[in-house]
Amino acid sequence: MNDLNNNITIAVDGFAACGKSTLAKALAKELGYIYIDSGAMYRAVTLYFLDNSIDIEDDLSVASALEQIRITFRNIDGNNHTFLNEKDVENEIRAMRVSDFVSPVSTISSVRRFLVACQKEMGKQKGIVMDGRDIGTVVFPDAELKLFMTASPEVRTKRRLLELESKGISDYSFEQVQKNLTERDRIDSTRSDSPLRKADDAIVIDNSALSTAEQLMLALTLANEIIEKKNIRESVNG
Ligand code: CDP
Repeated sequence: MNDLNNNITIAVDGFAACGKSTLAKALAKELGYIYIDSGAMYRAVTLYFLDNSIDIEDDLSVASALEQIRITFRNIDGNNHTFLNEKDVENEIRAMRVSDFVSPVSTISSVRRFLVACQKEMGKQKGIVMDGRDIGTVVFPDAELKLFMTASPEVRTKRRLLELESKGISDYSFEQVQKNLTERDRIDSTRSDSPLRKADDAIVIDNSALSTAEQLMLALTLANEIIEKKNIRESVNG
């Protein structure tokens, strides 16, 4: 038996700024898996559209822009960095001008088809933790573990402000950030193509009152139970 067969796929979905990437990153590290931030890919496409003045109502412009886009990830000093056409855009994609435009861009079906195809390719080997909005429903509907994260709006806003500050972005008010999160959740949950929703078989984690260590412990226990069962099945089947 190939060792890779013991790896599983983990999907982490949920509302804006509720700790998905913190959990997914830590989980991947503990398990020795690849971590992919699918939201960063939607943000990178949005940055390209903004910088190149792409009219998102014009299907042809969107299609030819997508042909020019290549998104990759690299680990720099232990941190995940998003590259758009070989340029490090990790900080730029977190700016409010991108946050304010990313949800409308994410409603476009051709954008979703393009990114979902890349994401499925990245997950072919399993051993991956991916976070986003449609990972358990569309990208990896067969994922062995699906988590759906929630947290109170106040907690989410505070966490996002701190996260932005840690990236040197400190010019946004509580109200501005909260408004952006609420508006993105509204658009993401109501779009017709792959709206944000909990997969029927996802486990809900409300982390409003959990520390990052506690939420990691919870998710790791769930993941290890599944991996263990898989190992037993495979040793029985030879
Ligand atoms: O701010 P937060 O980390 O919660 O969001 P993100 O994961 O960076 O995602 C930014 C935006 O990309 C979301 O608000 C969605 O509009 C879109 N997105 C999506 O449509 N599907 C995904 N799988 C991931 C993100």
